[in-house]
Amino acid sequence: PIGLQREVDSLLTDYLSRKSANLKSFPNTTFSRSSSADSLTTDEGFFEQQDTQNFSPIMREKLLRRSLQLRNQQSTWQESLDGQKMIEFRKSLPSYKEKEALLQAISLNQVVVISGETGCGKTTQLPQYVLESEIDAARGATCSIICTQPRRISAMTVAERVAAERGEKLGESVGYKVRLEGIKGRDTRILFCTTGILLRRLLVDRSLKGVTHVFVDEIHERGMNEDFLLIVLKDLLPRRPELKLILMSATLNAELFSSYFAGAPMVHIPGFTYPVRTHFLENILEITGHRLTPYNQIDDYGQEKSWKMQKQALRKRKSQIASSVEEALEAADFRDYSSRTRESLACWNPDSIGFNLIESVLVHICQKERPGAILVFMTGWDDINSLKEQLQSHPILGDPIKVLILPCHGSMASSEQRLIFDKPENGARKIVLATNMAETSITINDVIFVVDCGKAKETSYDALNNTPCLLPTWISKASARQRRGRAGRVQPGECYHLYPRCVYEVFSDYQLPELQRTPLQSLCLQIKILRLGSISEFLSRALQSPEALSVQNAIEYLKVIGALDEEEELTILGRHLAILPVEPKLGKMLIFGAIFKCLDPILTVVAGLSVRDPFLTPFDKRDLADSAKSQFSCQDYSDHLALIRAYEGWKDAEKARTGYEYCWKNFLSPQTLKAIYSLRNQFHFLLKDTGLVDESIAPCNIWYRDENLVRAVICAGLFPGICSVVNKERSITLKTMEDGQVMLYSSSVNGKETKIPYPWLVFNEKVKVNSVFLRDSTAVSDSILLLFGGKICRGGLDGHLKMLAGYLEFFMKPELAYTYVTLKKELEELILNK
Ligand code: CDP
Ligand code: MG
Repeated sequence: PIGLQREVDSLLTDYLSRKSANLKSFPNTTFSRSSSADSLTTDEGFFEQQDTQNFSPIMREKLLRRSLQLRNQQSTWQESLDGQKMIEFRKSLPSYKEKEALLQAISLNQVVVISGETGCGKTTQLPQYVLESEIDAARGATCSIICTQPRRISAMTVAERVAAERGEKLGESVGYKVRLEGIKGRDTRILFCTTGILLRRLLVDRSLKGVTHVFVDEIHERGMNEDFLLIVLKDLLPRRPELKLILMSATLNAELFSSYFAGAPMVHIPGFTYPVRTHFLENILEITGHRLTPYNQIDDYGQEKSWKMQKQALRKRKSQIASSVEEALEAADFRDYSSRTRESLACWNPDSIGFNLIESVLVHICQKERPGAILVFMTGWDDINSLKEQLQSHPILGDPIKVLILPCHGSMASSEQRLIFDKPENGARKIVLATNMAETSITINDVIFVVDCGKAKETSYDALNNTPCLLPTWISKASARQRRGRAGRVQPGECYHLYPRCVYEVFSDYQLPELQRTPLQSLCLQIKILRLGSISEFLSRALQSPEALSVQNAIEYLKVIGALDEEEELTILGRHLAILPVEPKLGKMLIFGAIFKCLDPILTVVAGLSVRDPFLTPFDKRDLADSAKSQFSCQDYSDHLALIRAYEGWKDAEKARTGYEYCWKNFLSPQTLKAIYSLRNQFHFLLKDTGLVDESIAPCNIWYRDENLVRAVICAGLFPGICSVVNKERSITLKTMEDGQVMLYSSSVNGKETKIPYPWLVFNEKVKVNSVFLRDSTAVSDSILLLFGGKICRGGLDGHLKMLAGYLEFFMKPELAYTYVTLKKELEELILNK
C-alpha cells in the first residue's frame, strides 16, 4: 500500500513536471515576453508594453501624429450636439469643480489621495480628465491609464459609461479587462480592470512598463486585493519615478492612505448631498409611539429558537463592540424622553433586528410623511425575505396597489434588480429592502427615506479555530454615515437609525480591513509567485497587517496541501495553483481532474463551487426543494455528485428545449446553471492555456462514469476539509479535528441521513453560526482518504503518512494509519493499471 501512495505521488510529480516544462524557469528567473507563461497570465497580450524613453525619432514622429489625430477626434465629438449634451451633464457633477485642482495635484505629485461621496464623479470622470488633458497636450498616444475596480461588474459598466461619455464604442480609447473577459483595442488609453487583473499583470511585468497612471478605486472598502496591491505599488514607485498613482475613496479616511504614502496630498471633492434629518431609536420611539417589549423581540425573529441561537452566538462572540454597546447603554441618559420611551428603551435588545419596529417606522412614513421611496438596510437574504413576508401581511403595507415592496440582494437576477431603479406607477410607495450592497455600489435615485438596522453580515475569520464566520455585526460609523447619505441625493431626506445615539457613538470608525478578516491562502501563493520574499515579512508592511496567527494558518494549509515546501517555497503544484485564478483547493481539484482523466465532471464541481449553489431553497418550500435535490443523490452521499447529475440533466433538457421546465420542477436556478456552463468553459480554457491539458483532448473522457474516481479527486481538492462519521443507532455524529462536533445544513443531501456508510466526509466550506455547519459534503472511503488526502510532490510521502497518522489517531483509528488494511480494490486497480 505504501507503494501505491508512492505511485500516486510520482504520477503527479511526473505529470506536473512534464506539463510545466514551460513554467519551470519563471519563478527563479525573470519573465521573458516570449515564454508561454506570459500569455497565460496576461490573456492574449491585453497589455502591450511601450518603453517611450527608447523610441527612435521616426517612432516619436509617428506617435506625435497619432496624438494629434486623437486630439482632432476628441474635439469633433465635443463639438457635436450629443457631445455638447454629455459635456453639460459632466459639468454638473461635483468633481468638475475640482478638475483643475485635481489635475494639478496629479501633475505635481507621484501619489494623490482623492475622496468624495459616491456619485460625485470619481470613477467615471477622473481618469477621463487625465486622458483629456494628455490628449490636449498632444501626449494622447503615449498615455496609458489603468483604473482598478474591486468588482467585475463595476469594471464593465463603468468602462461602458466612460466610452459613451466619449462618444465611442468600447474598445476604442476605453476598454475593460476582467478575468477571462475583456474588450480592448490598439488605441485603448484607459483600461478599467479588476484589481486581480492588475496583480496578474505584475507577475509578468514587474515595473508596469509603459503605464503612465494607475488609479486604485474604492480603497475605502479595504479589500484584500487592494491592500495587497498598495504594498506592491509602494515598492514600485521609487523604481518608476514617472508613474502616477491616484487613490480614490468614497468616505473620508484619506489620512490613513496619505500617511501610508509618506504624506501624499489629499484632495476632497465636496459633495452636493441635501441635508438629512437623523432620528435615532429614542426619537423614533417618540415619533411612532412604538412600544418595545421583550415578547416583541422574540417575535421579531419569527421563531423563538432561531432568535435564541442568534443571541447566544452574539454573546459568545463577546467582541469589544458588543460589550461597549452594553456599557454605553448603561451610561446613557434618556431623562429628556417620555417615560413610555424610557420603558421601551429598557427593553431594547441589541442582538435583534426589530421587525416590528421596522414595520412601525414604515407605517409612520407611509401615513405621515411626504411621497418618496424608502430604502431599508437589512443584513442578508434571510431577514430580507422574512421581513418582506411580514410586511406583505400588514393591512397598510401589504396593499400591493399603494405599496411596492422590493428585495435587493447581490444574487438576484438582473431583471429583478432593474425594478428597483424604476419609479413606481400611479404614485405607489416604493420600499426597497437591501443589504449593504446599496451603500456604495448601487444608487437608487428617488430614495428620500432610509431605515438603517445598524448591522451587516460580515465574513470574519476566527484565526484561533481557523474557521470563517458569518455573523451580523454592528456596522462602522463610516457605513452608518454612508447609509444616511443615501437619503439626501435628490432632495432633503430623513434617516431612521434603529439604535440609540449612544450606541452609534461606540461604533468603530471604519470596518476591519478584509486582510484582517479572511483566510489568506491565495494571497500567500501570490506573494510567493511574485517573488516578494518572506510571506510574513511582506504582509507586515501592509497598511494594517493581518494577525500573525492567520498568516501562520495559511502557510500551514499550503504546506498540508503540498503547495509550499518546508522552506515556504512554492512546489511545482504550488506554482500551478498560484497561476490558476481560483482558490488553491479548486485549482488542485482541476489539476487532479486533468491527471486522472475525469475533468468533465470535475469542471462542473469546480464551477459550481466558485459561483454559488444552483439548488434553490425558497423560504416557504424548503422541504419540497430538499427532496427534489435528494433525487439527484442516488444514495451516493455526495452533494458534489448530485450537482454533477443535476447539471448533466439540465444539459440534456436544454438540448430538448425543456431546460426551463426542468429547472422549475427541480428547484434549480437556470441563471446559476448557465453561469456554471460558461465558467466550465473558462476553466477548461485556462487549463489548456497553462498546458495542463492538451489542446486536442475534450474534457469528457474515459473515466467519466467512474464515480469513485470523481470522489477521490474531490477529496484531493478538499482535504484537509474532512470530518469523521460515526453512525449511531438512529443518528450520526460528525467531528472535525479543530471544532469537535459539527452539523450539516439540512439542504445537504447528507443532512437528513440517519446512516452514512462511509467513514469520512470531505467538505468545501464550514461556517460558524452558532455551532459549526458544513455546507456541501462528499462521503469518502478510507482508501480514498489515504491515497488522495494530503501532500503530493516533493518529500510528500513521509509527511503525508505522518499527517494522516495524526488524523487517524485523533479519530481513534490508529490501526488504519499503520496497516492500511482497508485500501479498497477499485483504487488499487485504477492506479496499477495506469
Ligand atoms: O465614482 P463615483 O461614485 O464618485 O461616481 P461615478 O461612478 O463616477 O458616477 C458619477 C455620475 O455618473 C453618477 O452620479 C451618475 O449620475 C453617472 N453615471 C451614470 O449615469 N451611469 C453609470 N454607469 C455610472 C455613472
Ligand atoms: Mg466610483
